[in-house]
Amino acid sequence: STGQAFDTNSMTLTRYTLGEQKRIPSATGDLTQLLVSIQTAVKAISSAVRKAGIAKLYGMAGDVNVQGEEVKKLDVLANDLFINMLSSSYTTCLMVSEENKTVIEVEKDRQGKYVVCFDPLDGSSNIDCLVSIGSIFSIYRKTTNTEPNVSDALQPGTKIVAAGYALYGSATMMVISTGNGVNGFMLDPSIGEFVLTDPNMRIKEKGKIYSLNEGYANLWDPAISEYVQGKKAKKAGARYIGSMVADVHRTIKYGGIFMYPATSDAPKGKLRLLYECNPMAFLVQQAGGMATTGKMPILDIAPTDIHQRTPIILGSSSDVQEVIDLYKKHN
Ligand code: AHG
Ligand code: MN
Ligand code: MN
Ligand code: MN
Repeated sequence: STGQAFDTNSMTLTRYTLGEQKRIPSATGDLTQLLVSIQTAVKAISSAVRKAGIAKLYGMAGDVNVQGEEVKKLDVLANDLFINMLSSSYTTCLMVSEENKTVIEVEKDRQGKYVVCFDPLDGSSNIDCLVSIGSIFSIYRKTTNTEPNVSDALQPGTKIVAAGYALYGSATMMVISTGNGVNGFMLDPSIGEFVLTDPNMRIKEKGKIYSLNEGYANLWDPAISEYVQGKKAKKAGARYIGSMVADVHRTIKYGGIFMYPATSDAPKGKLRLLYECNPMAFLVQQAGGMATTGKMPILDIAPTDIHQRTPIILGSSSDVQEVIDLYKKHN
């Protein structure tokens, strides 16, 4: 075969982003720089995830490991990495993290024009049993000329400049969109670079798999109950990992639907709008799919609180449309 033993021209994520940047005459390179800083955080998290057991990164924060160091839980470590890499990239002025109660302002002399909302470690209930976990981020432009404040982070998902996730699975992969479709980059540990392996990812118009936590079946809206009954009648495939990144990545790759719907005891569902639902909705739409609350597109929600939750139904457009039609029928 003509394949080289060692690729001397691999399309790395940095090279790809630079190419995207060069298509926009006014581009300054800041977005490329921002994505490079996120890549660094992700590489470090990937390394920590893969040797956590040995370095005793599991378990409760506050443990002391064999070297007498304070053990940082993986999601604390991931959070510190995202904050430190973004703060020192000179591209970001404000951050929202799942792990921080309030917005994080970057110190004055290192501020840039972007606002980044992130879930540094998604699927934390799966860490200790070695099931896939991830990181999720979305990037906005600061549009006001005041001091960075929480209102700069409360933009609807339609204003997203770029979004992506990292999946720490059997391989480590970054899936990213800067608004021109979705591309997947696999981490090649031998060179420490993310290499383009899944160009122009598209989600099937209809899939066979449905994915949600059926433990809450007694608390669902009638529309969800009717939809799931219909899937069972057709003996559809059921898959639920319990890590949003892994469930969404499978949905993009294989087609189908992922839902974290409202329940009677949690009418807003569980997943957070700013750093879970909006980035995933942006990516799925960029891949040709849909993302809704059941009653409106996720990206149209006007946020009022940085940690607010929303029900989410996303995936193949005709599967999601079926649920939207059932909500219309039942309301
Ligand atoms: P996180 O670990 O960042 O708090 O997110 C966990 C979320 C998401 O990853 C997943 O889809 C959902 O929790 C699973 O919730 P259930 O265990 O209620 O199904
Ligand atoms: Mn999460
Ligand atoms: Mn998290
Ligand atoms: Mn959490």
